Amino acid sequence: MVNLHGKDFLCLKDFSREEVSYLIDLSAEFKEKMRRNEEHSYLRGKVAALFFEKPSTRTRSSLEVACYHLGMHPMYMDVTTTQISRGEPIKDFAKVMERYVDIIVARVYKHTTLEEIAKYAKIPVVNALSDFSHPLQILGDLLTIKEKKGLEEAKIAFVGDGDNNVAHSLLFGSAIIGLEIRIGAPKRYQPNREVIEEARKIANKSGSKIIVTDNPIEAVKDVDVIYTDVWVSMGFEKEAEERIKLFEPFRVTWELVKHAAPDFIFMHCLPRHDEVTDDVFESKHSVVWDQAENRLHSAKAVLYSLLRRD
Ligand code: CP
Ligand code: NVA
Repeated sequence: MVNLHGKDFLCLKDFSREEVSYLIDLSAEFKEKMRRNEEHSYLRGKVAALFFEKPSTRTRSSLEVACYHLGMHPMYMDVTTTQISRGEPIKDFAKVMERYVDIIVARVYKHTTLEEIAKYAKIPVVNALSDFSHPLQILGDLLTIKEKKGLEEAKIAFVGDGDNNVAHSLLFGSAIIGLEIRIGAPKRYQPNREVIEEARKIANKSGSKIIVTDNPIEAVKDVDVIYTDVWVSMGFEKEAEERIKLFEPFRVTWELVKHAAPDFIFMHCLPRHDEVTDDVFESKHSVVWDQAENRLHSAKAVLYSLLRRD
């Protein structure tokens, strides 16, 4: 029996296959409840602090709507309007928040900021994106892959910036579930050795296969899922010029996707910039809107499982 009550949700790699599968199934249950227009305000009276150091369209709004449907109050906190922007220590923020709210959800520049909040706040802390990982995104994406391709044998390729938050979480999520995951990225932007080693340890247990290549065609050959993300993540704007040059051969174009399985799906966490052409993004292969929708259902699964004592 999976019990995540009181836990933090900082990285998928901290969770077992059974726990991730439970969260995917719970997300699907919440989706079905919405489809049936069924009341699900199981967390009535609870409060979530949504602390954001970076902009957001989907993560913030899916969390606010998830809180509303679950009967919670979402308290959005833009860092620039808090005393943290004037130097208040993050650990003091954590210690104060735990006296007010039931859960802290935070989008931060440095993953260590999340770890510090989690260290000093006794309540659950959820990663709403850091420089290292984006587990809420990939939890929703695993539901999308399950719906479209099943989670038994899908082969996934991530093409582009293989060393960013989304790529890391997709790597860990696929390794946990036991799926084949290929990262196609320029050598300089492949996941670092520690990340690969950690993912391979998980993969050895689950039967997942991990391939890292600097050849985009090798990455997408016969895959069921092609996933990409921006070449310049939030916080890396200074490197934009150099990155765009290096990533050019990894753009997801119609030429590239011809090498995938004929019924492949195209995924993108959004927002998009130059890393995919419109003909692929707007094609029948693209599942980006379903992917965005599933963020709402998986946000509910995470809030519910961390807060609800069954
Ligand atoms: N995919 C995602 O996290 O989007 P936002 O940055 O809009 O939240
Ligand atoms: N890798 C991107 C994801 C945005 C949802 C970024 O960090 O900006």
